[in-house]
Amino acid sequence: MKIYLSCIFSLIFPLIVSCKMSVKIKRIVEATGLSEGPHWDERSQMLFYVDIYANKIYRYNPENSKVTWAYIAHGPVGSVVPVEDKPNTFVAGCSKDIILVTWDGENNCTDTPIRKLATALKHSQGTRFNDGKVDPMGRFWTGTYTERGQELFLPNEGELYSLDSNKILTTRVKSVSISNGLAWSLDNKILYYIDSPTQKIAEYDYDLQTGSIDNKRIAFDLVENNLPGIPDGMTIDSDGNLWIALFEGAQVIQINPRTRKLLRSIKLPAKRVTSVVFGGTSLDILYVTTAGYGFSIQNEQTPTDDIQGGSIYEIKGTGARGVAANLYKINK
Ligand SMILES: *[C@@H]1O[C@H](CO)[C@@H](O)[C@H](O)[C@H]1NC(C)=O
Repeated sequence: MKIYLSCIFSLIFPLIVSCKMSVKIKRIVEATGLSEGPHWDERSQMLFYVDIYANKIYRYNPENSKVTWAYIAHGPVGSVVPVEDKPNTFVAGCSKDIILVTWDGENNCTDTPIRKLATALKHSQGTRFNDGKVDPMGRFWTGTYTERGQELFLPNEGELYSLDSNKILTTRVKSVSISNGLAWSLDNKILYYIDSPTQKIAEYDYDLQTGSIDNKRIAFDLVENNLPGIPDGMTIDSDGNLWIALFEGAQVIQINPRTRKLLRSIKLPAKRVTSVVFGGTSLDILYVTTAGYGFSIQNEQTPTDDIQGGSIYEIKGTGARGVAANLYKINK
């Protein structure tokens, strides 16, 4: 009623009151483990994501709420993106390698066929690929971090890479602690990038043709904005604003990277929010992945303080829309 009245009011006094609809949050998939790397597939209208330490790629069908998975024996999976013009084929960061996965998405698969495309140029015991995304030219960008013993990460032991259509791997950022969220500005001139422990969102000038990046600056600082947790996955909306998952922060934030301002925060019932992507027929549903247990293989346990951790959520009514995700282009 309150919302209704304020909407009527805003029709009469549009400059005084803005008609802000309240958002609807729904848990669509019950908790699993460490859900991450959501990708909305425009062609099939399906949501793909990974459960990192379960070594699984998942497909969620919003039509019937059915979930299917493919088990990857090769190791933990950090992200997954379909390959352009190759049905049932995906690129994924898996353990210290980038692999091609073959899966029909219809059936649960325990012996999923894979092919190795590349290996992290810098790696040691405990190095694995984490979040990944495809740039506007079809290159697959994904970065690493290294966990060892009881250490969640070894500082500055990770790197960010891009893999081109000829399977050439190029180092883009060195000395990364936990490589995470990636997004490109709508004009393809800026790369936004998150190295989680910095608690900042960085931006670089991005050259579309060569993929080279430089002139790093800070687009947003969680600490300066009194925000809890660390930034994890991110996506961009059709207004060029960034949506960022706050791990240990129990929320998703929307920021304007041009003005460096926080636009809004949406609280979630899970603490460890890992990533976000827009999906649905109109790209206006925000899908959110979260983590329960499974932060390191050595230290796997279920936090008792976060019973919804690991679930997938949908958020409707943000008024924002996403942009279609790029697919990996590969020759041959
Ligand atoms: C796949 O496995 C899930 C449990 O993870 C189950 O709910 C679903 O029915 C299975 N689907 C198929 C097609 O076997």
